[in-house]
Amino acid sequence: MGMSFEHLRRTTSGRPTDSKIVSGNLPSLIFRQVDCLSNYYVVETMKKVLVVFDTTYGNTEKLGREIASGIEESGLAECKVINIEDVETEDISVFDGVLFGGPIHAFRVTRGIKNAVNKAAKMGLDGKLVSSFDTYQVSSHEGKGIKQIEDLLKKKAKGAKIFSPGLTALVLGRQGPLNDDEPAKAREFGLRFAQELGN
Ligand SMILES: Cc1cc2nc3c(=O)[nH]c(=O)nc-3n(C[C@H](O)[C@H](O)[C@H](O)COP(=O)(O)O)c2cc1C
Repeated sequence: MGMSFEHLRRTTSGRPTDSKIVSGNLPSLIFRQVDCLSNYYVVETMKKVLVVFDTTYGNTEKLGREIASGIEESGLAECKVINIEDVETEDISVFDGVLFGGPIHAFRVTRGIKNAVNKAAKMGLDGKLVSSFDTYQVSSHEGKGIKQIEDLLKKKAKGAKIFSPGLTALVLGRQGPLNDDEPAKAREFGLRFAQELGN
């Protein structure tokens, strides 16, 4: 669209006492009319979240998309879901929150998602809310992946705020599917993550 917030300010007749003055392009803003007579608008930023996933059989992607649905259903943030391969071309700076998720392979979260964390940290995660998710098959490996991702975030993204614990989800076979209750847990996790973005 290209119309800037500065343009919007000039078209309104004054400034409400509780307004939040921000900069940004119109597609990223929510407008709420608070007083029809004076034609005031309160302008709030819509938070943005990036979900980055690695996957072999699609289960971790599905989990990431469920988390994204929970985030968007909160009405507090919009969400973009990408494969690890696309991290390099993504403009990380526009996001308020970033989640990283991958499957457990041989006791460890995949190298692919670890590389994605490293790349994103180099681009800059300071000030952002970050978190993790994983899928596992062996019950004793529950939570292993999210801990490994979180440890990496602590080391490589010291200026980020970590939303902990992440979400660890059981798959019922090497190729899945996700255990029945995992999608609902992922949505609830997404909702809590979105709520934390405002704090
Ligand atoms: C090479 C390989 C090694 C695996 N090693 C483990 C493991 O050590 N522990 C475990 O719980 N699951 C292990 N799994 C099962 C994966 O966790 C499961 O395939 C994955 O969660 C499915 O997610 P995806 O569809 O996103 O790839 C392994 C799977 C593969 C392909």
